[in-house]
Amino acid sequence: MSEKRQKILVTGGAGYIGSHAVRELLKEGYDAVVYDNFSRGFTNALPKDTEFVHGDLANADLLNHVFDKYKFRAVIDFAGHLEVEESMKNPHNFYVNNVSEFANLLETMMNNNVTAIVYSSSASVYGQPERTPIPESSPIEVNNIYGGTKVAAEHLLRIFDNSEHLAPLTWYATQNFQSKGSPSSLLVDGYDVMPKRDGIIAAKKLFLTKSKNK
Ligand SMILES: NC(=O)c1ccc[n+]([C@@H]2O[C@H](COP(=O)([O-])OP(=O)(O)OC[C@H]3O[C@@H](n4cnc5c(N)ncnc54)[C@H](O)[C@@H]3O)[C@@H](O)[C@H]2O)c1
Repeated sequence: MSEKRQKILVTGGAGYIGSHAVRELLKEGYDAVVYDNFSRGFTNALPKDTEFVHGDLANADLLNHVFDKYKFRAVIDFAGHLEVEESMKNPHNFYVNNVSEFANLLETMMNNNVTAIVYSSSASVYGQPERTPIPESSPIEVNNIYGGTKVAAEHLLRIFDNSEHLAPLTWYATQNFQSKGSPSSLLVDGYDVMPKRDGIIAAKKLFLTKSKNK
């Protein structure tokens, strides 16, 4: 891992989308550090020599240690559960994992002066859409627990961003991150949500601007 390259924390980076995002980050000249509890992901999904930490977002001490050690430029968060049927059977587990533990991540970012995050949300925040591709401005509608956790996590981003006690966040919640998405493109054709242009610009800025505190 080079000292000069900007370091990005990829939570859930051993999963399906996260492991592709790690590859894209490396191609684009960033260093990626994966933080994953391996409840779903696999070490062999990661490119050889990827630095990873086996940890849960619930573990605030470990998260703090990792932030302190690597001095991240930004975070991309993929650490979540997404099986809709399972979410309906076990809502508590889904809210703890996808919302409460996500709040831990935001809190740790704030404590470590890292204010840039791309959050992997979901098209499920739009419920049953009237048309596709779904404009990002479509009304939010929750029709399953999984979608509810995604709406709640997006709400947390707004809360953290607007708090007078915290540094403003630079954030973008993308509902169409998929495996070919890279930090500089952040969108690919053929999916069912049309991202807002200013959202994409904000997301690019997270990665293209120099951090003041690093
Ligand atoms: N796959 C899709 O079609 C899709 C579409 C839109 C959004 N998303 C979102 O993107 C994210 C990643 O999706 P995926 O398909 O790669 O899922 P995935 O299950 O393959 O990856 C999720 C990763 O997060 C890890 N993880 C889960 N909870 C964690 C926690 N509390 N602490 C640490 N690690 C944790 C898992 O071990 C796994 O490696 C999810 O948040 C999902 O809601 C996925």
